Amino acid sequence: MHITIDGQQIEAQPGQTVLEAARAAGIYIPALCWHAKTGKAGRCRACVVEVEGRLKESCALPVKEGLVVSNNSAKVLATRRMVVELLLAEGHHNCISCEANGACELQDMAYSLGIERPVFQIDAAPAPKDETSEGIIRDENKCIHCGRCVQACQTVVVNQVLGFGFRGNEAKVVCDADVPMGDSTCVQCGECVQVCPVGALTLKQIAGKMRTWETEKTKVTCPYCGVGCQIDFHTKDDRYAFAMAHEGDWEQQPNKGMLCVKGRFGLDFVDSDQRLTTPLIRKNGVLEEASWDEALRFVADRLGAVKTEHGPDAIGFFASAKVTNEENYQLQRFARAVIGTNNVDHCARL
Ligand code: FES
Repeated sequence: MHITIDGQQIEAQPGQTVLEAARAAGIYIPALCWHAKTGKAGRCRACVVEVEGRLKESCALPVKEGLVVSNNSAKVLATRRMVVELLLAEGHHNCISCEANGACELQDMAYSLGIERPVFQIDAAPAPKDETSEGIIRDENKCIHCGRCVQACQTVVVNQVLGFGFRGNEAKVVCDADVPMGDSTCVQCGECVQVCPVGALTLKQIAGKMRTWETEKTKVTCPYCGVGCQIDFHTKDDRYAFAMAHEGDWEQQPNKGMLCVKGRFGLDFVDSDQRLTTPLIRKNGVLEEASWDEALRFVADRLGAVKTEHGPDAIGFFASAKVTNEENYQLQRFARAVIGTNNVDHCARL
């Protein structure tokens, strides 16, 4: 079917919302509480569009044949402007020192509307940052109550740690029964950081070191287990910076745009000085560096000697979830076809 946005006819699929159809066609409609993974929340009103003189939330408006939408009318822009001005007045959105500066959806919206500074001043004292979690910094001064993190925690990863607490002006996102994140039941999956549109939830490991947009992104497969999670591996100056679940075609990926604590926070080992880069052979009780040829010859000789002396079942093989299916297949083929044993086992921690 077709709908028209600001005079431009675009294709839309049945079941899509106007926001989704617009995004698919490359048309920018701001959305602060909607996220592809968490769906619509109808909280922020940033996505309003005009249809037959009425303002509607495009994140909740289903497409229908011939629908005519204005994304740019004076009414739409004035409403969005008010949304942003109120949000800016509500917290302490100090872009200069914010970790999300340059990658903030509220900032993008303010920029697109030409808003230079908050017009309303509400002088509430800033709340202290919650830095008790090992991997995540929470800054409620920058929270816009969009609910993406709550939805992600409750229904995407189903950890059910984050929720809304209190009422009215006191309303805020809380961990469990409003305890510091480090004392909560949070499992550090980091999904909340991934969906946060502003600087309210950020990664501790890069705080003050770099902004997320300064990094180079490479899509990789997580090495930690056999699920095959797709990761956007961020590097800066050729060093590991941080990891995010791959977002582009996340619905097609085995991890569906999610990561566990190991995939999110456990990849710093790649730059560890303690990694082995050459094989080691123990000689007279001391590990000494060896060439690959020497190491392979040594292993082949030892396996051959044990097999000759004690039979193939004196040898066992451990496969690992950290390598590919193909490598695990090769290992068991080597055990069965070359050595002649079925002593093959597996451990996710190897
Ligand atoms: Fe539509 Fe928030 S994105 S109401």
